[in-house]
Amino acid sequence: MSVLGKKVSFHDFQPELESFREAVLEGLARKPKQIPPKFFYDKTGSKLFEAILEQPEYYIPGIERELLQTHADEFAELIEPGAILIEPGSGSCEKVQLLLEQLLPAAYVPMDISGDFLQQSACDLGQQFPWLRIYAACLDFTRQMIVPKDVPAGRRVVFIPGSSLGNFDPLEVQHFLGGVHRLVGKGGGLLVGVDRKKATAVLNAAYNDAAGVTAAFNLNLLERINNELDGNIRRDKFRHYAYYNDQMGRIEMHLISLEDQQVTISGQDFRFTEAECIHTENSYKYSPDEFINLANASGFRHQKSWSDTHHFFSIYFLEAC
Ligand code: AVJ
Repeated sequence: MSVLGKKVSFHDFQPELESFREAVLEGLARKPKQIPPKFFYDKTGSKLFEAILEQPEYYIPGIERELLQTHADEFAELIEPGAILIEPGSGSCEKVQLLLEQLLPAAYVPMDISGDFLQQSACDLGQQFPWLRIYAACLDFTRQMIVPKDVPAGRRVVFIPGSSLGNFDPLEVQHFLGGVHRLVGKGGGLLVGVDRKKATAVLNAAYNDAAGVTAAFNLNLLERINNELDGNIRRDKFRHYAYYNDQMGRIEMHLISLEDQQVTISGQDFRFTEAECIHTENSYKYSPDEFINLANASGFRHQKSWSDTHHFFSIYFLEAC
């Protein structure tokens, strides 16, 4: 444990960094080829993702910010002062700032895999909210969720904004929410933002922005392979492809090979036929019924939910029972 400020501490649970090399070599040997979306986020990828959040077609951040601001008082009524607020994948700790003055938690526990980024964000937050106790936990929340020992007792509430759960498939969501249930215990809470099913054209536009930022984000994965894994992939021989798979209820992102070609990565050769894809991301969309059923299956009871007038995005408050 290290002390970063009067009320800010940092706890390193030393997340094991899954090898990018193993994931790429193994994923490209599969049929169909695939690479998990968590590898998008090198330095350039993280910057490109921040830029995606600014694109007019990508409606999620704007709607969510509006919902968090508008309904903060209602969340506060359900959550009550003195709670232990836990945020897996807290990143820049930006969204929680919209709620802190209303929620008045006894402690905030941001969790993130990126230690430096987490330290910085926790320090900045501590300066902005000098009354708030912050216990930053560096860990990979998809593998483990640990609350540091010195966090005070209190009702635990997990906050997951941004539709982060969209990258999991439904079974993984159920498993993950089971872990959240164990973490908060009976009577604990979950405040979660989830993207909804909607017109295909709206979804397709959100992942094919006119400025080409999402395309650059997807294609950057190839640059990352070249830079870090001694690859010789030509980015201009691939194309970004994202579409809503109606049957699966998810956006799929792929990189499509524009011709028959062979690439070399870490001394290993891989062949692509023309139009062959690398599947790089799924982003699941849930109707309220679908999501509430998943949460029920993990032991949560729906308390209240909020949505925008277009029904594009929902925020749910659920209680562990
Ligand atoms: C971070 C998973 C919520 O699926 O909308 C955005 C990632 N990928 N544009 C999403 C993403 C391309 C995003 N999530």
